[in-house]
Order: sequence, then C-alpha cells, then structure tokens
Amino acid sequence: MASQTPNNVPSIENWNLLLDGKVAVITGGGEGIGRGISKLFAEHGAIVEIAEINSELASSVVNEITAAGGKARAHIVDVRNEKDVTELKKNILGVHEQVDVLVNNVGDYRPLVRFIDSSPESWKKMYDINLHHVFLVTHAFLPSMVDGNGGSIINIHSVEAMRAYPGDPIYGAMKAAVSHFSTCLASGFGKDGVRVNGIGVDLTQTPQVDYISGYEDVDDLWEAWAPIGRLGWPEDQARVALFLASDLSAFVTGHNIPVDGGTHAGGGWFFSPEAQRFVNRPKTL
Ligand SMILES: NC(=O)c1ccc[n+]([C@@H]2O[C@H](COP(=O)([O-])OP(=O)(O)OC[C@H]3O[C@@H](n4cnc5c(N)ncnc54)[C@H](O)[C@@H]3O)[C@@H](O)[C@H]2O)c1
Repeated sequence: MASQTPNNVPSIENWNLLLDGKVAVITGGGEGIGRGISKLFAEHGAIVEIAEINSELASSVVNEITAAGGKARAHIVDVRNEKDVTELKKNILGVHEQVDVLVNNVGDYRPLVRFIDSSPESWKKMYDINLHHVFLVTHAFLPSMVDGNGGSIINIHSVEAMRAYPGDPIYGAMKAAVSHFSTCLASGFGKDGVRVNGIGVDLTQTPQVDYISGYEDVDDLWEAWAPIGRLGWPEDQARVALFLASDLSAFVTGHNIPVDGGTHAGGGWFFSPEAQRFVNRPKTL
C-alpha cells in the first residue's frame, strides 16, 4: 500500500488547545516576547518550562500562568552557561520523557558597540548572548525529540538576520547565524519528526526595545515606518510562535518568517503622510 495518504496530516482535536499536554521549553520567558510566548502556549494547554536568568520575573510569569489555570515551572539559569544548561536538562528531562517544543528566545543587541570601536571581547559577548546558547540549549533537548515523538524548535532572531544592520554588523551576523542554523538543522532532522523554524522579529515593544518613549510627538509616522502601520507587541510574536509550535504548521520547516509589520518586505520604501505616496528618498516624511 502506498505510504502517502491524507491521513499523514496530523489531526487537530481541539483548535482552542493547540499544544495540549505538550512540554515546551522557553528561554528568557520572564518578560518581553518570551513572556508573551509562555503565556499563550500555557493557554493552549502546554506544560511550560521557563529558563530565565531573573528570578523575580520568572516567579511573576509562573504565578500569572498558574493563576489563570495553566501549568508552568521556572528554572533560574543563565543559558550562556554550560553547567546551567546541563542542570536545566536534568531538571526537565528528569520529570518529562521528552521536550516537544523548544523556543530559543534569549538575545540582545546591547551594548551597541560600533564595529570601528569593537574588539574580540565585544564580539565574544555578542556571540554568547545571541548564538552560543542557541547551540547549547538545542544540543541539550534535540536528542529527546529525536528519540521520542519528534518536536518543533523555534529560534527567535531578528529581521536583521535577513537584511542589513549597519549599526552593528556583529549582532547582524549572529542573528543571521541563528537563522541559518535553523535552516540547516531543519533539513537534517525532518526525517526524525523534528521541525525547525525561525522568527525574524522587528518593531516589537518590550523592556529591551522601547519604541514609544521619545517618539510620542511623531506618532503619526507609524504608517511610514511599517507597512502594517502600527507597533508590534509580544502577542503578535507569540501567535506566530504558536503556529510554528503546533500541528497547524506540520508541513513547514526550515523557514525564517519575518514578524515585523512588513518592514523586511517594505525595503527602503516609506509612505509619506504629507505627500500621500510612497517615497524612497524621503527629504522629510
Ligand atoms: N523587541 C524587538 O523589537 C526585537 C527586535 C529584534 C530582535 N529581537 C529578539 O527577540 C528576542 C526577545 O527580545 P525581547 O525584546 O523580548 O527581550 P527582553 O530583553 O525584553 O526579554 C529577554 C528575556 O530574556 C531573559 N534573559 C536575558 N539573558 C538571559 C540569559 N542569559 N539566560 C536566561 N534568560 C535571559 C531576560 O531576563 C528577559 O526576561 C531576542 O532574541 C531579541 O534579540 C527583539
């Protein structure tokens, strides 16, 4: 009998519980995008395991999730540290047979050091906070997916992985490496039931990147800054992460999705509210 039948498409039992009973590890789940993802995954029935450096933030998100009837635990770790990640693996795989979903979310563009002023030490810091831990944490949990029932890995990087970041090419290079790591891993482990995708974030309001303060007087320019015409929020990122984590995206792997209000697509074009047309050489907007 032919192996290729429509029954290979996984059935979705409950569209309101897309991650029912799935074990999801989320790094940096204490605030910002990671917090948004942790909360939405828990709402969809996931057992959320948060790897977070800040204990106060970790307890606050766990309390919020459990108060709403969800399941979450926090692990106070620095994901840059190999020993911490080994401990994290022990604590999670000591309780669950496998991890079903891994979201590598930790990352930071700070401190912003211009390339001319940078040094091997500053490059190493960018490497540690944006790339090294993605290897460490993935290496810790991928075998449980391969030996178990497969899984979904989601790497949160940046739209700057996919277009230039003139401000700091080292940060841009690290994010591009996360994006390509996702593509390579996906093609190697699809046969084991493991999907890997990336999200290229832009313009999302979080404690790390405040797009509002100092820009209140030019609020009308949002339609120029982003084709979608508004600021993004952690919930915007979390919804795409939910799609990638769940069987909704069962046939999607190796992709990097810009979740950016259209800034990647818009390229160098800006809508000028004054001229009421798109311009690529704005004198003013
Ligand atoms: N917000 C944006 O517009 C934007 C744009 C481009 C890329 N990104 C990327 O999105 C991801 C999330 O960004 P965010 O804006 O939500 O960040 P954020 O700084 O607001 O939140 C990061 C979370 O990770 C935790 N954390 C930091 N270092 C850690 C470590 N070593 N170990 C464990 N936990 C750690 C923090 O305590 C915090 O809870 C990052 O990879 C970032 O580079 C965000």
